[in-house]
Amino acid sequence: MMNKFDDHPSVWLFGYGSLIFKAGFPFVDRRPASIVNWSRRFWQGSYDHRGTEAAPGRVVTLIAQAGEICEGMAYLITPDVFEHLDQREKNGYLRLPIEMTFEDGSVAEGLVYIATEENPAFLGPATERDIARQIAGSVGPSGHNKEYLVGLAEALRSLGRDDRHVFEIERHLLELQGDELPIV
Ligand code: BEZ
Repeated sequence: MMNKFDDHPSVWLFGYGSLIFKAGFPFVDRRPASIVNWSRRFWQGSYDHRGTEAAPGRVVTLIAQAGEICEGMAYLITPDVFEHLDQREKNGYLRLPIEMTFEDGSVAEGLVYIATEENPAFLGPATERDIARQIAGSVGPSGHNKEYLVGLAEALRSLGRDDRHVFEIERHLLELQGDELPIV
């Protein structure tokens, strides 16, 4: 499954987390897209990017949920880019084949990174307020966890997309910070 598209000259990668606001790799094309039957959730622990072993942060993964739509950004990339991304996004993520739909209604099969509940870094559900509290107190080698959250929320807003889970966590974070503007 991981190598399904290795012999293709280019592959669509669906991004729903940091890939929306911070690509950091070369791409051939980029288009807003969505996937069905998946929800974005801050349920994956981050011990090496946005947190530490002692104080893990939280980043997004996908949870299977019938009828739900997850909006994001699709990147058309060459397979060699995966070598870089597999390294950057280790910490429990696997590549899964997925069908994505573009804004014009056309569809493409591609890949998405997903961290399932079987990976050791998976933290699972918590209330949006508790997630915000954990994010507020976490920082790792890639920076403050709150920068990740706010970067994602801002990117979704600029795409004109709604995500109750993400925006609710952001609202709690702002509340915890006494409405002080977060650093992005
Ligand atoms: C994403 O933005 O789609 C993503 C980034 C890193 C790991 C998993 C997913």
